[in-house]
Amino acid sequence: MQTLNDLLGESKIFMNREVLSPHFTPKKLVFREKEINNIERAVAPSLKGERGRNLFIYGKTGTGKTSCVNYVIDEIKNIPNTRAKISYINCRIYNSRFKVLAKITSDHLPTYAKRGYGAVDLYERLRNWIEEDSKIFVAVLDEIDMVRDLDDLIYTLTRINSDIKAGGVSMIGISNRVSFKEDLDPRSLSTLYETELVFPPYYATELYAIIKDRANTGFKKGVISDDVLHYIAAHAAKEGGDARFSLKVLSKAGELTEDKNASSVTLKEAQEAAKVAEDDAVYDLIGTLPEHQKLVLYSIALLTQSGGTYKKLTDGVDTYLFSGEIYNRYNSICGSMKKESKSERWYRKYLSELEMQGLIAAFESGKGIRGHTKLVKLLVPARKTRDVLEKDIFGMLEEKNEEKEAN
Ligand SMILES: Nc1ncnc2c1ncn2[C@@H]1O[C@H](COP(=O)(O)OP(=O)(O)OP(=O)(O)O)[C@@H](O)[C@H]1O
Ligand SMILES: [Mg+2]
Repeated sequence: MQTLNDLLGESKIFMNREVLSPHFTPKKLVFREKEINNIERAVAPSLKGERGRNLFIYGKTGTGKTSCVNYVIDEIKNIPNTRAKISYINCRIYNSRFKVLAKITSDHLPTYAKRGYGAVDLYERLRNWIEEDSKIFVAVLDEIDMVRDLDDLIYTLTRINSDIKAGGVSMIGISNRVSFKEDLDPRSLSTLYETELVFPPYYATELYAIIKDRANTGFKKGVISDDVLHYIAAHAAKEGGDARFSLKVLSKAGELTEDKNASSVTLKEAQEAAKVAEDDAVYDLIGTLPEHQKLVLYSIALLTQSGGTYKKLTDGVDTYLFSGEIYNRYNSICGSMKKESKSERWYRKYLSELEMQGLIAAFESGKGIRGHTKLVKLLVPARKTRDVLEKDIFGMLEEKNEEKEAN
C-alpha cells in the first residue's frame, strides 16, 4: 500500500506516464514504412491537384491504422500552398451522414457550422467550397463501419464529384471489421474499395520493439526487465498482435507495481495486468458492435441474468438459452424502442457474428429438445455486459433525438 506521502512524492516507477498511454502516438512508427508509403501514394495525386483513388484500409485492432493515417495527415498539413484539404473523422463519434457533413463543415467552414442547417444545405455549401478554387478534398473516415447510413454517405461524397466542374473529393475509409462490407450496397463497395490496404497484426518481436521503446522513456531505469517486456510482447502477439493491448498491459503492470509500493515490475504484475487488459478489451469490443448485434447481445445478457425460460437446461454453472426466446426478447426490445427489428435470417447472421467475436457460444441442440434448435451461451459476464450495453443503447436514443432536431 502507498501512504499519502508516497502518493504525493515523485513516482518510483514512472518517468513519463504519458508515453505509456496507448493514446500517445510516437513520432516514429516502426515496422510500418510500407503501409505509410502506400497511404502517401493514395493521397499524392490530391497534392498535385488531381483526384486520388479512394482507399480502404483494413486491419485488426491495434495494428497502427489510425496512427499511420494521422502521420500522413500531419505530413500533408506541413506542405505549404496546397489545394488539398483533409478532414479526419472519427465515425464512432460522427456516426451518420449528417454528422459527417457537419464535421467537415466545422473543420473548413467554421462560420457556417452553426446549428440548424440540414444535410442539403451542408452539401451545397461544401460542394461550392470545393469547386470555388478547385480544391481536392480528402475525407478520412476512421471506423467507417460505425456510420449508420454509410451507403448514403458514400453516395453523397461521390456525388460531389459529378456535381462540380473543378476540384474533387476522395475518401480513405478505415475499419477493423471486414464483415461490414456485406451490408453495403455493391455500388458503394466498389467505390470505397478502389484500392485496399491491409495492416497485418504485429509479431511478438515487433511488439517487443514497440514497448521497449516506450518503456525506455516511460519507466525509470531498472524498473522493468527485458524478461517482463518479452512476456508482455508474446502475450499480446497471442491475443492478436495488438500494439494497443501490449501498451495497456505495460502501463497497467507499472500501476500495479506502484500500488504495491514495490520498486520493480515482476512477471506477476505483468500477468495480473494482462488479465485486466483482456477484460477491458472485451467491453471495448462490445462498444464497437453494429446496433442490432448490440440489441441481440443485450437480449442475451438480460435472459442470462433472469435465467431464461428453460431453467431446466441451466446446469447450475452455465445458462443456456434457446435461440427462439432470444429472438422474441430482441423483438420486444426493438418494439419498445420503436425500432424495426430485423428478420430471422439477419438474426441468425448476428448470432454467428457474435460467436465469431468470442462473445457467445452456440450449439445445435440434439434431438429431443423441441426438434432442432440452437442453444446459446453468453461467454462474458452478464451483469457487466448489460451495464455496458445499457449505457450504449440509451446513448443511441439520445443521438437519434438530437438528429431529429437538427434536420
Ligand atoms: N508501429 C508502431 N510503432 C509504435 N507504436 C505503435 C505502432 N503501431 C501502433 N502503435 C501504438 O499502438 C496504439 C494503437 O494503434 P492505432 O490506434 O494506430 O491502431 P488501430 O489499427 O487504429 O486500431 P483500431 O482498429 O482499434 O482503431 C497507438 O496509439 C500507438 O501508441
Ligand atoms: Mg484506429
